[in-house]
Amino acid sequence: MASMPIVVDRAEKFEKVVSILDHYSRRPSGLIPILQAIQHEYQYLPEEVLTYVATSLDVPPARVYGVATFYAHFALEPKGKHVIRICDGTACHVKQSLPVLNALREKLGTTEKSATTADMLFTIETVACLGACGLAPVVVIDEQVYGQITPQRAVALVDEIKATEAGLASALETEQPSAEVVNE
Ligand code: FES
Repeated sequence: MASMPIVVDRAEKFEKVVSILDHYSRRPSGLIPILQAIQHEYQYLPEEVLTYVATSLDVPPARVYGVATFYAHFALEPKGKHVIRICDGTACHVKQSLPVLNALREKLGTTEKSATTADMLFTIETVACLGACGLAPVVVIDEQVYGQITPQRAVALVDEIKATEAGLASALETEQPSAEVVNE
């Protein structure tokens, strides 16, 4: 019984990959946009999908893996639903980015090696200069930039996201369709 959802998940996963490959006419020259689209869909590049892409484009798997590992933008491990990127470039470091990082890790129970929360809601990453040094220290949460961030403000932002997620979860629960079966 327990294997059923996994089977469905795998089938859905490849269905979406197939449509992405078709969209790019399965051209090897479209490898990078294909990987970008797949990552946009899954938040990371699953290993089995990379192998499938290589076969579908008729290119060596080493080339697909080479591209996937070359660009920092691509992730080979699953990330949380919300990605928090803390700049640790020179300007941000001088302006106390480290206390922000520590406060967020303490809040979410993550570490440098284990950057994603167990519930897969958050991933914390440190990045080099984000190009907004005038706003240092800078944090980006889901592409939204927050400048002159403090540890307190960063933790408050996480609390806001958690509250939104809890609201979404309870709304979904109340919207669950009735399990009753209508007999004709
Ligand atoms: S060092 Fe952080 S934005 Fe430049």
